[in-house]
Amino acid sequence: MDIAEQKQIQEHFERMYQFGQKPWTEHRPEPSLGKFFEILRTSRLAKFTLSPIEGLARRVKVSIPAKILDIGCGNGWISIKAAKAGFEVWGIDSSETAIEEAIETAKDEGIEGNTDFQVGDALNLPYDESFFDALIDRGLFHHILPENRIAYFDNILRVLRSESLIYISVFSDKNPVGIGQLFTKELMEGLFGKNFTSIYYKEDPHLSDSPAHLLHFTFERKS
Ligand SMILES: C[S@@+](CC[C@H](N)C(=O)[O-])C[C@H]1O[C@@H](n2cnc3c(N)ncnc32)[C@H](O)[C@@H]1O
Repeated sequence: MDIAEQKQIQEHFERMYQFGQKPWTEHRPEPSLGKFFEILRTSRLAKFTLSPIEGLARRVKVSIPAKILDIGCGNGWISIKAAKAGFEVWGIDSSETAIEEAIETAKDEGIEGNTDFQVGDALNLPYDESFFDALIDRGLFHHILPENRIAYFDNILRVLRSESLIYISVFSDKNPVGIGQLFTKELMEGLFGKNFTSIYYKEDPHLSDSPAHLLHFTFERKS
């Protein structure tokens, strides 16, 4: 794993947050994120319990919130949105400044009980095996160097349960070459296809300079 260059990327983001520059937060909320919450709420991950009714065992839905991990959560706006939608959310980001803001906002919004923010590295996730039902990565994967993708997949596959869902947004190849890698739908489906099935896809309708033109995917982990 190339640690030095990956660390420089983290430092670049920390400086941006310190200067109050976070254009990626202006790019919201894309409808596909709402669609992801809807898919998650109605998926096989919705919890069921067995209850004896009229002498028969019947499936009854109980409301146990899905546990979501938001990697590269930045200032936590997506985690907070997810917590408000009824999910339990853990957010992790390498930027101390961003995580301080996330913790403050969660307190201000009164949902600190449903969120857990911490400074950390997506390539060294500090969570238990199979702990999460779902993962959100909006704008981190394209900043993971290709040589570090194995570490990225090892980490997310360890903490995600089987049949979990992931939402991932990446730069499309319609953007100019710059910081971060550019992707096509086919390239992403190829990279994730070994472990995940693509179940929903949308690209941003319009090209935009700030912050970028994004492709949005919902994948389901193969069992
Ligand atoms: C483009 S921003 C997206 C932030 C947030 N997901 C959003 O949509 O507002 C990318 C985020 O990834 C974080 N980041 C970069 N490398 C990271 C790493 N190795 N581990 C955790 N976070 C990282 C940055 O600090 C930054 O907050």
